[in-house]
Amino acid sequence: MNPATAGTVNPLAYLDETLTELRSQGLFRTLRELRGEQLPRARFDGRDVINLSSNNYLGLTTHPRLREAALKAVKELGVGSGSVRTIAGTMELHMQLERRIAEFKKTEAAVVFQSGFAANAGTVASILGKGDLILSDELNHASIIDGARLSRAEIKVFPHRDVAALERLLEETKSFPRRLVITDGVFSMDGDIAKMPEVTAAAHRHGAIMMVDDAHASGVLGTAGRGTVDHFKLHGQVDVQVGTLSKAIGVLGGYVCGSKSLIEYLYHRARPFLFSTSHPPAVAAACLAAFDVLEQEPERIERLWANTRRLKEGLTRLGFNTGISETPITPILVGEADLAMKFSDRLFENGLFAQGIGYPTVAKGKARLRTIVTATHTEEDLDRALSILGEVGRALGVIS
Ligand SMILES: Cc1ncc(COP(=O)(O)O)c(C=O)c1O
Repeated sequence: MNPATAGTVNPLAYLDETLTELRSQGLFRTLRELRGEQLPRARFDGRDVINLSSNNYLGLTTHPRLREAALKAVKELGVGSGSVRTIAGTMELHMQLERRIAEFKKTEAAVVFQSGFAANAGTVASILGKGDLILSDELNHASIIDGARLSRAEIKVFPHRDVAALERLLEETKSFPRRLVITDGVFSMDGDIAKMPEVTAAAHRHGAIMMVDDAHASGVLGTAGRGTVDHFKLHGQVDVQVGTLSKAIGVLGGYVCGSKSLIEYLYHRARPFLFSTSHPPAVAAACLAAFDVLEQEPERIERLWANTRRLKEGLTRLGFNTGISETPITPILVGEADLAMKFSDRLFENGLFAQGIGYPTVAKGKARLRTIVTATHTEEDLDRALSILGEVGRALGVIS
C-alpha cells in the first residue's frame, strides 16, 4: 500500500471487478514466459513444448543473416534512432527499407511504421475523416477497428466475406464524399483468405478506396510472399496495402504501400508516424535482410505450405473442426471459452503450446485453439503435436 494513498478509496477498484469476472469465466490469462529463442520447440514457463503459437512463419526471428545485419547496425550505428522520423530520426536505413518494400510489393512507394497496429490505425484515421464512410469486414483486426473509430468517419460493418452485402451497402451509401472498403487479406483468427478480386472490383465500381491488411499474408501468399495482391494478380488495383514486419518477416514494424502521394500524405498526417520515435537501426537492417531471404530462399515458403497441409490433414483425420482455414493459421474450434482454455492448458502440460482464444478476441461461443505451423517445424514435431492433440482432445471430449 502506498502510504500517500493509505486510507483513501482506491479509484481503480473497478479493474479488480473485471479481473474477478474474467477469472470466473475462465478467461483470465497469465503471460507465458519464453526462455531462449522463438523456435518450433521452445521453453515456455520452464516447460519444453512444441510451439504452435508464434507468428514466426518462416523462422526468420533467428535467421543468421538477419542477426548479422542487426549486429552490424548496432556496432556501426548504435541502438536507437534518437528522434521521430519527421525531425531527426530518419536514418539512411529507414529510407532504404522503404524503397526495398515498395520494390518488393511493386508499388510506387512505402512508409514504415513502428508496428502493423500503428500502420493500420494511423492510416485509416488519417485518410478518412468526419463525414466519410468506412466499410469494414466484421472480422477485421482490432487495429483497423480502432483506426476507424479514431477517424470519426461513419463505420458500417459487412458480414464476413459477404460481397453481396458489401455491394448493397455501396449502393445505399452513394452520398458519402469518400468511402473506404477495408479487409484483412488473411483473417487472423480463422485463417481464411479475403475474396480480394470481388471486393476490389466492388470498391472500384463504386469509386471507393480499396485497402487490405496483409499482416498474415506477407511472407505467406504470393510470389516470394508478396501477399494477397500478388496472389490474386491485383497489382495496381488495391490503393492501400498494409503489411507487418513482425510476423513472417521476423522482426518488428508495419508498413503501408501505395502511390507516392499516399505515402507523402502519410508522412504529413499519420499520427503514429509523426509522434513516435522511429525504429532502432538494427530493426531496419534486419528487415532489409529479411526481404533478401524471402527472395533467395523460396524453399522456406514451400516448407511452410507442406507443413500446413500435414497439420491440417492430421487434424481432420482426428476429427477436429478446423473451420474455413486456407492458410497456416488453423483454428481448432471448441465452442465455449472455458473448454478452450482448459484444452490449451492440458495440451501445454503435455508438451504442446496452442493458445486458447475466447471472447472478446472471437465471438462468444466461438472459442478455439489457434495453431500456426512454421517452415521450421519438422515432420516429427507435427506428428508429435497431432498425437498430443488427439490424446487430450479425446480425454476432454472435444473429439470422440
Ligand atoms: C491482421 C493483423 N493486422 C495487424 C496486426 C498488427 O501487427 P503488429 O503485430 O505488427 O502490430 C496483427 C497482429 O496481431 C494482425 O493479426
